[in-house]
Amino acid sequence: MRRLIVGNWKMNGTSSDLDEIRAIAASAQQYPSVDSAVCLPATLIDRSTRAVDAFPIGGQDCHMQNSGAHTGCVSADMLLDAGATLTIVGHSERRAAQHETDEDIRAKATAAHAAGLKVIVCVGETLDEREAGSALDVVLGQLGRSLPDGAAGIWLSVAYEPVWAIGTGRVAETADVAEMHEAIRTALVNRFGEDGRVIRILYGGSMNGDNAAQLLAVENVDGGLIGGASLTAAKFEPILAAAEATSE
Ligand code: PGA
Repeated sequence: MRRLIVGNWKMNGTSSDLDEIRAIAASAQQYPSVDSAVCLPATLIDRSTRAVDAFPIGGQDCHMQNSGAHTGCVSADMLLDAGATLTIVGHSERRAAQHETDEDIRAKATAAHAAGLKVIVCVGETLDEREAGSALDVVLGQLGRSLPDGAAGIWLSVAYEPVWAIGTGRVAETADVAEMHEAIRTALVNRFGEDGRVIRILYGGSMNGDNAAQLLAVENVDGGLIGGASLTAAKFEPILAAAEATSE
């Protein structure tokens, strides 16, 4: 399976960052055996796709409706129109701050697929949930309710992002990552049959150039969703290099 390394710029980036996006796209070209992309603020997607050559640009969320009276929202069709080829849905920052439910996320993923976008569905437990011993139950529950029916394979990826590891510098233990990714794989195969074996399961949460090789060596870790370390080519490239080095 080809590895997938995706940057998530969150609410960062203006036109003054287009050179950095060009630099990221240029470094991605050096690792042709790795699939990569960056998910940008919606305002930057159109300009970025014009600035780079054949490098996938994604959104970070989409609405479940195509159009209508939803002030401030962006639909999957609009992302596609701006040049995006993928989108994240269900990031824990949106689950927490925008009170998105699993059902919302599933509807968004369904809308994104209908528009022709690849989708990364995020799941992950909080620190309280992990300490209470319910991480597996929480994540598998989110997964079951958030994943869209139908399109699987390369059209769908799952990002396991423990909430307490995001932006904290704290990375999940290798054994815990292995246990969670194996449980997610089993759930995907139960749900999608053989297609579930080729859905890429990304790890996210403080992944960087120093820890990527170790995380990507874990069974069923097929890539990464990278926040802070995706904001510059200098930080992103070592993760692409680790993904290439650990490719089968
Ligand atoms: P981080 O963010 O790499 O900065 O921890 C990951 C994410 O939120 O997707």
